[in-house]
Amino acid sequence: MKFSELPTPCFIVDEALIEKNLKILNGVSERTGCKIVLAQKAFSMYKLYPLIGEYLDGATASGLYEARLGFEEMGKENHVFSPAYREEEMDEIIELCDHIVFNSFSQSEQFKDKVLKAGKRVGLRINPEHSTQVGHAIYDPCAVGSRFGVTLEHFKPELLEGISGLHFHTLCQQDSDDLESTLNVIEAKFGTWLPQLEWINFGGGHHIAREDYDIPLLEKCINHMQDKYGLQVYLEPGEAVALNAGYMVTTVLDIQQNGMSIAILDTSAACHMPDVLEMPYRPPLFGSGELGEKPYMYRLGGNTCLTGDVIGDYTFDQPLKSGDRLVFGDMAIYSMVKTNTFNGMALPSIAIQDKNGDCQIVRQFGYQDFKMRLG
Ligand SMILES: Cc1ncc(COP(=O)(O)O)c(C=O)c1O
Repeated sequence: MKFSELPTPCFIVDEALIEKNLKILNGVSERTGCKIVLAQKAFSMYKLYPLIGEYLDGATASGLYEARLGFEEMGKENHVFSPAYREEEMDEIIELCDHIVFNSFSQSEQFKDKVLKAGKRVGLRINPEHSTQVGHAIYDPCAVGSRFGVTLEHFKPELLEGISGLHFHTLCQQDSDDLESTLNVIEAKFGTWLPQLEWINFGGGHHIAREDYDIPLLEKCINHMQDKYGLQVYLEPGEAVALNAGYMVTTVLDIQQNGMSIAILDTSAACHMPDVLEMPYRPPLFGSGELGEKPYMYRLGGNTCLTGDVIGDYTFDQPLKSGDRLVFGDMAIYSMVKTNTFNGMALPSIAIQDKNGDCQIVRQFGYQDFKMRLG
């Protein structure tokens, strides 16, 4: 099927662009010996896990279901971190995962013996309390009052027995200078205990696949921790695996006037790209311009009842009309995994564009997908 023939709304993941990102990540692990696993929370299109598994060492999960998906569909090293685990899910998590990272000493004390008895590795998430982000408190695990990781004040060295590694995740779409400053703080605060451990996980948020990302500095950071402390370094990026590797195609349904021209689309910020409202950010749209750049301005709105269901204001060379197809970029990460059916909105289809440019629909959704989640 051609791209232009796909039904809308539809997410399209570009296989060649995913592979381009994977090659960049694989280069880092080849040159440094670090291990890189996919953070499934950002990208869970498991149809591509066999391809991803050719370049990465495995997957990481946010809980039982993602852990099971990584186990079933990737079948390589399987990691999990959750803010807290439930007693009744721990046996299955232990069966599925190689690394189980706890968010507190109380949880590691509760489950550590069981994990070790099964021959699996126990990790502890630390919080270095070193914020490197500005303006995005909801994406800053080092923000005041954050529930993520053990701070130095609450660190209990006497409970480290059986814990073979530390995990931190403090970055979001950042470069390696922020990683370097974070590692300096970690060494200053937790350096005493690093030599007795086997591995350290640098979490995600490394925008490694971005063109201007400083890869040599990342590799210097990895080598430093591996050489000085004898640690195996892990990275668990999500975004970097699928950055700029997906699209969302949508159709203009109607044009409304209210002090400006408003195009109503068959997609929705609230249902199909919630990060547009949460981050917030303005998704790239092919063929459009910034305000004032092109003659025809439209506010692009979603097809739900939410007044704020607005994707953004864009300009165009020609007036828009019903039936026009618009293509948003960078839609593979987070948007696809965060969709919902608020208002009974149809979920977008999911397609792959292969290396020859041919498209194949992987999943289509209908009324039952909406109904089955309601009581
Ligand atoms: C613990 C953990 N690891 C990895 C990631 C992946 O981050 P990113 O997709 O920004 O690389 C996240 C994102 O929230 C996370 O919370």
